[in-house]
Amino acid sequence: MRFRSLATLVAASFALLAAPYTPPPIFTNTTIFLPPSDWKSHATQCARVTLLNQACETDNVLLTTFTINPNDTYLPVYKSVDGGLTWAELSRIHGGFLMQPFLYELPMQVGNYLRGTILATANVIKFKGNFSSTGNFSSSGNFSSTTNIDIYASKDKGENWDFVSRAATGGAPNSTNGADPIWEPFISTYDGQVVVYYSDSRDPLHAQKLSHQTSGNLLTWGPVVNDVVNANYSLRPGMTVVAQMGNGKYILTYELGPEALPGSRYPVHYRIADSLLEFENATDFLLKSQDGTVPNSAPYVVWTPAGGSNGTVVVSDGKYSELFLNTEYGDPGAWSKVSTGLGSSYSRSLQVMPNNSVVLMVDGGLYRGANTSVTAGEFVIPGPQSVANATSTCK
Ligand SMILES: *[C@@H]1O[C@H](CO)[C@@H](O)[C@H](O)[C@H]1NC(C)=O
Ligand SMILES: *[C@@H]1O[C@H](CO)[C@@H](O)[C@H](O)[C@H]1NC(C)=O
Ligand SMILES: *[C@@H]1O[C@H](CO)[C@@H](O)[C@H](O)[C@H]1NC(C)=O
Ligand SMILES: *[C@@H]1O[C@H](CO)[C@@H](O)[C@H](O)[C@H]1NC(C)=O
Ligand SMILES: *[C@@H]1O[C@H](CO)[C@@H](O)[C@H](O)[C@H]1NC(C)=O
Ligand SMILES: *[C@@H]1O[C@H](CO)[C@@H](O)[C@H](O)[C@H]1NC(C)=O
Ligand SMILES: *[C@@H]1O[C@H](CO)[C@@H](O)[C@H](O)[C@H]1NC(C)=O
Ligand SMILES: *[C@@H]1O[C@H](CO)[C@@H](O)[C@H](O)[C@H]1NC(C)=O
Ligand SMILES: *[C@@H]1O[C@H](CO)[C@@H](O)[C@H](O)[C@H]1NC(C)=O
Ligand SMILES: *[C@@H]1O[C@H](CO)[C@@H](O)[C@H](O)[C@H]1NC(C)=O
Ligand SMILES: *[C@@H]1O[C@H](CO)[C@@H](O)[C@H](O)[C@H]1NC(C)=O
Ligand SMILES: *[C@@H]1O[C@H](CO)[C@@H](O)[C@H](O)[C@H]1NC(C)=O
Repeated sequence: MRFRSLATLVAASFALLAAPYTPPPIFTNTTIFLPPSDWKSHATQCARVTLLNQACETDNVLLTTFTINPNDTYLPVYKSVDGGLTWAELSRIHGGFLMQPFLYELPMQVGNYLRGTILATANVIKFKGNFSSTGNFSSSGNFSSTTNIDIYASKDKGENWDFVSRAATGGAPNSTNGADPIWEPFISTYDGQVVVYYSDSRDPLHAQKLSHQTSGNLLTWGPVVNDVVNANYSLRPGMTVVAQMGNGKYILTYELGPEALPGSRYPVHYRIADSLLEFENATDFLLKSQDGTVPNSAPYVVWTPAGGSNGTVVVSDGKYSELFLNTEYGDPGAWSKVSTGLGSSYSRSLQVMPNNSVVLMVDGGLYRGANTSVTAGEFVIPGPQSVANATSTCK
């Protein structure tokens, strides 16, 4: 005990004396994970990234996770201590096949989970047989189980994980209209509650809709609340991501399929609301950049205070390597398409870095790509950096 506290003290004084952290220069296409050659499947997908900054850290530590198909099923968690330039495996989350994962650092205490707890969620599925080598779930029909939005927590920054609760359950994975699975969870917090958003095919009135549920303790979950429903049964809104903007409003991006717009299979739509819980009746917008481009499928959204007095809304999609920027808080006439020099991927995820001019992009590979890798690269927001730091609630 004595030795331990002494060691902690020494470590603490070193930390105080250490030079301020300097992030690496802007980088592109750094590899996080390449499936080993002896794996049966070389498919990766749906990478997610989170910066550990909820206790005012400015040292650029990140965690990422993504879907893989090794012989055994688990969700890998990789860590970077240098702002995303280099990565190493930190831990594995077991519990079946965990698809469409998401990571989130709690910005406040919820129930017995302290601020700084890392939450992981995914669509957890069990198999009858072996997973198809291309990860092509829709054609396999080999699932015995339901789809489940499960919540895991790590109290030690991602080293160890415990199952916490099952927020929602749907039918077997099947994207045909009439089937009743759930998909694609995303976590945020609002008004003392954790909110889990997901795509929901259980309502017989809608092939699919977007729903959320809240919890004040992470153990029990409230009723299903609509976020996006369409009068046309066949439309399938999917893949909710939300972000708070500098004007206090919230933006929710999603894909709307199938063939919801001529020439665009899954056009990206968005809504803006005053509350993270009240998107259902908010005005719906098609995201169309000033050059006429409509981003397609699997959007991701963040807001950064960099780029001007309104900051910048940044949207990525599943088709274009470019990003879609908006310096007018999501005004539908103000989207511009800007090149990134990076690859495109299915559901590429975004993270605003402590230097809020820098957005980290993590790319998990193309949809149903049979041989993909997980990579990261940075994008610099045009215009000035802001003195305020984004995303952290640190005051
Ligand atoms: C996966 O199985 C193959 C044989 O099918 C074996 O060669 C390989 O070592 C296994 N890999 C892992 C990560 O278990
Ligand atoms: C799954 O694959 C392994 C080898 O890759 C095989 O031994 C096993 O029998 C398969 N299981 C089923 C249910 O097909
Ligand atoms: C996946 O399944 C769909 C639907 O059956 C099929 O159209 C597609 O070609 C398959 N893709 C791969 C890579 O097997
Ligand atoms: C379903 O699983 C069985 C047993 O592992 C396998 O033989 C079959 O190829 C799988 N079917 C598909 C479509 O992946
Ligand atoms: C998928 O759902 C549709 C509609 O309910 C159903 O007809 C079909 O049999 C299901 N597919 C599988 C593989 O279970
Ligand atoms: C409903 O949506 C489907 C899928 O996009 C489309 O094919 C169909 O034409 C739409 N129906 C109406 C009445 O708009
Ligand atoms: C949206 O409007 C409908 C109809 O008035 C109402 O039932 C629903 O509760 C509203 N949703 C929200 C989130 O306010
Ligand atoms: C900020 O947004 C408002 C609309 O909300 C717009 O009128 C103004 O031009 C924007 N400022 C900048 C610097 O883009
Ligand atoms: C990064 O990788 C993508 C996809 O492979 C490629 O198109 C792009 O040119 C690369 N960018 C740089 C700067 O190397
Ligand atoms: C923002 O983060 C940087 C570290 O990247 C730090 O030096 C700076 O003090 C922070 N600014 C504010 C306003 O917190
Ligand atoms: C933030 O990053 C941009 C782009 O690399 C750079 O120009 C700027 O100097 C950085 N700001 C700080 C405070 O490091
Ligand atoms: C996967 O792609 C890499 C290049 O990105 C290549 O070196 C490797 O041989 C490919 N593997 C398979 C199994 O096709």
